[in-house]
Amino acid sequence: MEKYVIVGGNSLSGKVRLSGGKNSVLTILPACLLSKGVCTIHDVPRLSDVFVMKEVLECLGARVDFSGNTMVVDSSQVTSIEVPDRLTRLMRASNLVMGPMLSRFGQAKLAYPGGCSIGSRPMDQHLRGMKTLGAQIIEKHGYIEGKATKLQGGEICLDFPSVGATENIIMAATLAKGTTILRNAAREPEIVDLQNFLNSMGTKIKGAGTDIIRIEGVRELGSVEHTIIPDRIEAGTFLTIAAINQSDIYIDNIIPEHLEAVIAKVRETGVEIYEEANGIRVISNQRTKGIDFKTMPFPGFPTDMQAQVMVLMAVSEGTSIITENIFENRFKHVDELRRMGADIRVEGRVCIVKGVKKLSGAYVETSDLRAGSALVIAGLVAEGATVVANIYHIDRGYENFEQKLRGLGAQILRVNGTKER
Ligand code: EPU
Repeated sequence: MEKYVIVGGNSLSGKVRLSGGKNSVLTILPACLLSKGVCTIHDVPRLSDVFVMKEVLECLGARVDFSGNTMVVDSSQVTSIEVPDRLTRLMRASNLVMGPMLSRFGQAKLAYPGGCSIGSRPMDQHLRGMKTLGAQIIEKHGYIEGKATKLQGGEICLDFPSVGATENIIMAATLAKGTTILRNAAREPEIVDLQNFLNSMGTKIKGAGTDIIRIEGVRELGSVEHTIIPDRIEAGTFLTIAAINQSDIYIDNIIPEHLEAVIAKVRETGVEIYEEANGIRVISNQRTKGIDFKTMPFPGFPTDMQAQVMVLMAVSEGTSIITENIFENRFKHVDELRRMGADIRVEGRVCIVKGVKKLSGAYVETSDLRAGSALVIAGLVAEGATVVANIYHIDRGYENFEQKLRGLGAQILRVNGTKER
């Protein structure tokens, strides 16, 4: 029951270095199951979700060593095909072992991941893809079981460019017989990172980053060494922190092309953003202006940045319209922001945000990862003290968050809470 206690109002300055991308690691770790060799991965963030995925690999029989930010995975001796309910409930991305397990061993069984606080999140697109590649899928007693003597290449067109379905299908196709063509694929940078990782391991994949991906099946895959791309959502979060606190911050280890939609929108609010050698400098010295935005698949504005930029809108001048197109239930932060004085109305998938001059510190609870970082941002700009509860959600996706913030001059402390306020 740890909480953050934040005293807002400090102007921030200095340099922050981004960690490796959570969502890249969460697809690259299952991809290690495809290899008969050893996978060495650098810049792996020490996040609770990463530790859950480590446990998923270990429960399948892989040997995993995690020292500092380097993880070494040896999947030569996989002994089980089943991921239990306990782990799939902790993290939906555990469903990404389905593709690699079916591809290499022709069998995988996992407890149904179910919904989560941001939406229902079905797996129909993943499973349709596996069926097209020849797998038999049985959904029974809360488990999804896939079986195939040998997957065969095929042509798949996704109904929607789902990130997870694209990743799972790419991985399933790597050791299949023949060629797979995946259309209407998701184009997120994490998928390009997955392709680069797999191709270094010996796969023949082309087209990641576009909406058509072609995978030529190979017989077996070997050892690989890879460095994870920087976390673009952590980058966007610190960009928003700089913008809202009228600060001057240098964000190091960023790939600006991964963040163009967010950079363009934050620039529209009046913030100055300069691209430098290995990072960006963000300078904000006046009250920002309200803007409208809609979340879209990459390269559109990411849903994972909606909550954080909503906080910026909550204190900007004028009215902003925010539309959430990816998840049906991703406005849970709104009620908490209202406790802090924000003027926000929700109408279905749209939020109407009327900017106020000041937020005031309050006790707030977070319901998911990005809502959590948004409430921290609100606490940093609010008058007085804010307590953010349930910060285990934030630990899923931000490495050393409070240390990085303190390095910029923020007043934020992690405290052990009790159930009472
Ligand atoms: N969808 C379906 N059927 C499917 C798959 C997806 O209807 O078979 C729907 C979902 O319900 C959702 C939409 O498609 O409405 C998008 O889902 P997608 O599959 O693209 O998302 P995901 O793979 O489950 C990843 C990230 C999320 C991020 C989304 C969208 C990982 C581990 N997670 O989830 O990250 O929001 O893509 O960009 O990569 C986060 O980091 O906070 C986070 C939630």
